Amino acid sequence: CGIVGYVGSRPALPVLLGGLRRLEYRGYDSAGVAVVNHRLEVLKVVGRVERLARMADPSRLTGELGIGHTRWATHGAVSDRNAHPHVDCTGHLAVVHNGIIDNHAELRRELEARGHRFVSDTDTEVVAHLLEELDQVDLAAALRAASRRLRGSWALGVVSARRPGVLAVARQDSPLVIGLGDGQQVVGSDVTAVLDLTRRVLYLRDGEVACLTPEGVTVWDADGRRVEREPFEVPWEASAVELGPYPHFMAKEIFEQPQAVRQALAGRVEPGSGRVDLGETGLDPATLRSFQRYAIVACGTAWHAGLVGRHLLQRATGRPVSVEVASEFRYGDPMVDAGTLTVAISQSGETADTLAAVREARRRGSPVLAIVNVEGSSLSREADWVLYTRAGPEVAVASTKAYLTQVVALHLLAAWAAPTGAEATGLQLLQLPSRLEATLGLDPAVQELARELAGSEHLFYVGRGLDYAVALEAALKIKEISYVHAEAYAAGELKHGTLALIEPGRWVVALATQRALLAKTAGNVAEVRARGAQVVVVGPGASPGRAELEPMADRYLPLPEAPEPLLPVLAVVPMQLLAYHAARARGCDVDRPRNLAKSVTVE
Ligand code: G6P
Repeated sequence: CGIVGYVGSRPALPVLLGGLRRLEYRGYDSAGVAVVNHRLEVLKVVGRVERLARMADPSRLTGELGIGHTRWATHGAVSDRNAHPHVDCTGHLAVVHNGIIDNHAELRRELEARGHRFVSDTDTEVVAHLLEELDQVDLAAALRAASRRLRGSWALGVVSARRPGVLAVARQDSPLVIGLGDGQQVVGSDVTAVLDLTRRVLYLRDGEVACLTPEGVTVWDADGRRVEREPFEVPWEASAVELGPYPHFMAKEIFEQPQAVRQALAGRVEPGSGRVDLGETGLDPATLRSFQRYAIVACGTAWHAGLVGRHLLQRATGRPVSVEVASEFRYGDPMVDAGTLTVAISQSGETADTLAAVREARRRGSPVLAIVNVEGSSLSREADWVLYTRAGPEVAVASTKAYLTQVVALHLLAAWAAPTGAEATGLQLLQLPSRLEATLGLDPAVQELARELAGSEHLFYVGRGLDYAVALEAALKIKEISYVHAEAYAAGELKHGTLALIEPGRWVVALATQRALLAKTAGNVAEVRARGAQVVVVGPGASPGRAELEPMADRYLPLPEAPEPLLPVLAVVPMQLLAYHAARARGCDVDRPRNLAKSVTVE
């Protein structure tokens, strides 16, 4: 879910709707706003923020104080009744919430016994009723008292018609950013929601409660002590979260990749010599090499980047590297200790599973290096060292440029960790932006291919080594946004089961960029073709490679000439484009796929 809030001198409604549009990637089951002008006015609807905006009557929803919400359902079905904001029995006080109140059932029983009447099935409504009892004179004090009764995770925004000019907010394990304006303050689940108003922000920390008025912001910690914290200047421009000439954010972000990689390399690879330097992280190569083991943790696309990272780090350090999805790592009694470097990868830096894994690793004595995109995010604060991916804001739910810059960060990290050869890798990486530009030239061919493949309900992606890691990401991309069932297999594993699913007409996409594995992958292509499959091969643009592979393929997507270690990085681009065009051909909502949210801040 995403929450926003505003207090100041302008009409709150347009600010809230603008913020919610930015946060819609966090969930879009339903949306709502509450605005205060002597009385509380609430509007909530099932569906998108645009529907809310169409139905919002600015002459009714007046006032310079308000909160808003876009929901990704956890407790309670998707309905108007369960949409936020939730209101107390008096109809004066409204609450928006992102997170899960674990003890909501117990609190609900207690409150019902005292006469409170609940109208929704959500866990959030208990907060409104608790505050109704606790708000005697001071809304922020009431929220501090209410927070002490809650267990679970929350980012909360509260307004009350009895407390004009006051917006109270609280945070526990769910992100919340306060934007500091002149005579106005704004809050949001992430910085993109506040960027239109200001780039000066305060990140609220766990257990904290803040009181926002047009004049300023006061923050208290969990023990009720005043907190003084310097604001932070966000490095992103508001224009970076505009669509510009592109029809979808996903297309914009795919085509921004050369630039994103330039940013990711800037100042980290010396142009003439190729020397790699990640000293900005606070780490040094000797410390990096001193670990006995490396444990990569991440979720979703970031986990796929981690799979690439394992190959690179293992090769560079000669030490064992494990990679695990964060939700499994956490409960799997992980074998990490002071001799292990845990490497956590995340675009948002707010994914609850990844944060929980990091806390578990630290509890076991393992230091943490975060590879993260969002500066100031929870992960960046909790890690011992941070390597920023510098992809800029990523809006589409399906991750593209964030993945690519994560892979680049891992290439840099591995090069920096390697006792020799870092310069050669550095020089190769410097070629990546121009090679990516050339790869984007495959777009028309991929679009045509997407039209052919879009009718399939099942797709298979195969590859070996680094290409297998890319195959997993390619399959995830197409599943996420076009709802085609896709599976990725290590090409050698096909014959151990999946081959049974191959029948005449089935499409198989083979990734074959690594010379040493070429003959083997070619063998697997022959196996599926012998069973009637149609095969797309993504392979080198030149021979050796092309000459062997192209004759075997029904469709061949040639990658531009580039050093071999870069080819798997390039190969992901036509796969992103394939998912994008297939989703469009199937009439899917590219940027907001059903049931998904970009940032999942619940475990
Ligand atoms: C969600 C998104 C994925 C993303 C994953 C991890 O599931 O839909 O695209 O890869 O979270 O997000 P993170 O911000 O930690 O990279």
